[in-house]
Amino acid sequence: MSNPSYDWLNKLPKVELHLHLEGTLEPELMFNLAKRNNISLPYENINDVKKAYEFNHLQDFLDIYYQGAEVFQSEQDFYDLTWAYLIKCQQQNVQHVEPFFDPQTHTLRGIAFETVINGISHALEDGEKKLGISYQLIMCFLRHLSESDAIETLRSAEKFIDKIHGVGLDSSEKGNPPEKFSNVFSEASKKGFKLVAHAGEEGPASYIWSSLDVLKVNRIDHGIRAMDDPKLLSRLIDSQIPLTVCPLSNTKLRVFDDMSQHTILEMLDLGLCVTVNSDDPSYFGGYMTENFISLYDNLSLTKVQAIKLIENSIEASFAEKKRKKSLYNLLNEFVTS
Ligand code: ADE
Ligand code: ZN
Repeated sequence: MSNPSYDWLNKLPKVELHLHLEGTLEPELMFNLAKRNNISLPYENINDVKKAYEFNHLQDFLDIYYQGAEVFQSEQDFYDLTWAYLIKCQQQNVQHVEPFFDPQTHTLRGIAFETVINGISHALEDGEKKLGISYQLIMCFLRHLSESDAIETLRSAEKFIDKIHGVGLDSSEKGNPPEKFSNVFSEASKKGFKLVAHAGEEGPASYIWSSLDVLKVNRIDHGIRAMDDPKLLSRLIDSQIPLTVCPLSNTKLRVFDDMSQHTILEMLDLGLCVTVNSDDPSYFGGYMTENFISLYDNLSLTKVQAIKLIENSIEASFAEKKRKKSLYNLLNEFVTS
């Protein structure tokens, strides 16, 4: 990022709506936590870890990502993970975040739900107080597990309803359609949670339709396969349902062979409410600024397009009205500076 022509991309006030906290685990922290918790890793050193981060599709990544998550044991571990992400946000001028966490990845290993949520939410509270980064936290259900597991997870979350703002759906997309989770999403909606779901990342456009019509989500995570379906495009443009697109993730998981083939700017030109996000930055080679840099380098992203992408993120966020207004003010200050 030492290239001065990237400075404006780092200074751009940003909002992140698609970020898995477990996907921010940097190799250095992985080694530190493994040592702290006496866990043996299948890697000798950081170079080994980096070599393992070569993926041909989503499942290759998920296998390594779930293995990495085994180093989290205590509330302090979840705090440290979240805090490290927030420091990165501060460095990249990310002002508002709506991170995901995957409780089932941890409860299935015998870690209490309470341990996970307390560590994460203490760090988010500190981030708001000390760094001025506002947040809404989203709990994801793992779609390769059953709906009854998801319902049990929702029940565990009820005690912490003041700390969790939304629910989402992630993990292995193909073969696990949104409809599988219709009951748990309906229950979550009745309890007042905001709803999002990964759809149309590797899976077909029909998964975007059913996320909208069956799960009744407020946002679609990824959604790039919408480009295969003109009727769906019209629906998404008319409704302005946001799509949280993750450029570096899509090239790392080979959804696109190369960033020069990414369709995000075509989607923006069509009038879709697309946003830029980092997904699992430690695994995919970059946080928010690096995602914007990649669009600038490979797709000649302009300042006008970058500003529109941020406006979309502010609009698409679950931030309160007053906070949205202050985010727009920060963006205006950037535009006029
Ligand atoms: N979990 C973490 N990252 C994910 C992604 N990109 N797709 C589905 N599940 C995920
Ligand atoms: Zn994701």
